[in-house]
Amino acid sequence: MESKSFLLFASVLCLTALSSAQDSCGQRPLVGPPGASRIVGGREAPEGAWPWHVSIQILSVHHCAGTILDRLWVLTASHCFHNYLWISRRHFRVVAGLHTLSALGDHAQIRSISKVKMHEDYDDVTSDNDVTLVLLGSPFDFTDHVRAVCAPHNVTHELALNFSHCFVTGWGSSYFRGPLLNSLQETEVELIDRRTCNLISWYGGLITDNMICAGLESGGNDACQGDSGGPLQCYSDNEERFYVVGVTSSGEGCGLPRRPGVYAQTSSFSGWLKANQEAASPALRPDTRLLAALLSSALLLLL
Ligand code: ARG
Repeated sequence: MESKSFLLFASVLCLTALSSAQDSCGQRPLVGPPGASRIVGGREAPEGAWPWHVSIQILSVHHCAGTILDRLWVLTASHCFHNYLWISRRHFRVVAGLHTLSALGDHAQIRSISKVKMHEDYDDVTSDNDVTLVLLGSPFDFTDHVRAVCAPHNVTHELALNFSHCFVTGWGSSYFRGPLLNSLQETEVELIDRRTCNLISWYGGLITDNMICAGLESGGNDACQGDSGGPLQCYSDNEERFYVVGVTSSGEGCGLPRRPGVYAQTSSFSGWLKANQEAASPALRPDTRLLAALLSSALLLLL
């Protein structure tokens, strides 16, 4: 009897852990939902506001940003690695839970990189397919300061999410060719539909089907150099969570009118992301649904 109740208790614990690992994405316990007032330009983010935002560093110097998809995987841009593959993996590190670049602080977690999976069709001329998956040497411990964002399952799912506010975040410069900023910044942007972004007076056809533009028609709110690889994240009012909608990729200048930021659209790559994550770490990512089903049947047998 004793062991039965223990097994029952353990199964319940496992089931809760399994479901919460998937359910808690995109939530930030330390900061409330985005408010109604719009921010003009950038501002320092409240600490803990973007717990999925990481710094990818070379010899401890910020190189690019990235987004935590789960404990082992970080999403970033291909152009962050394209010209840097000659640099030994040992010199790279991924830092999460970071607010101030110059001081790691109490919540930082540092991980090595065990694998870089660049998109096979990344094109460094057009910036098409500017997405890369980074597999960490060891998993992050999720805390209030370090956790995963949600990712849209596909294009249809993304449309149904009904986003209210979108933000870009990073330590990137506040003007074109400016220096990096020491504290993490956030700025609110609007998603701009591809047709508008491709108009002759905008990007004149350079925006592919895998890209999405975000900013303001009048300019001002934008990502800039050093923000690359980081998230364009939008809040779903229905689900009360943030989704990674884009990966900061390119743009002409920074904050110019009709030259918004250009992002790799995450939903275009949902199949690629899933396939590559599963292929690289099948043992570490058992099919949670199968596991849940097995545990439930064990539970049923016990009752
Ligand atoms: N490629 C840039 C980087 O390396 C990102 C540029 C984004 N530019 C923009 N105007 N949104 O950091």
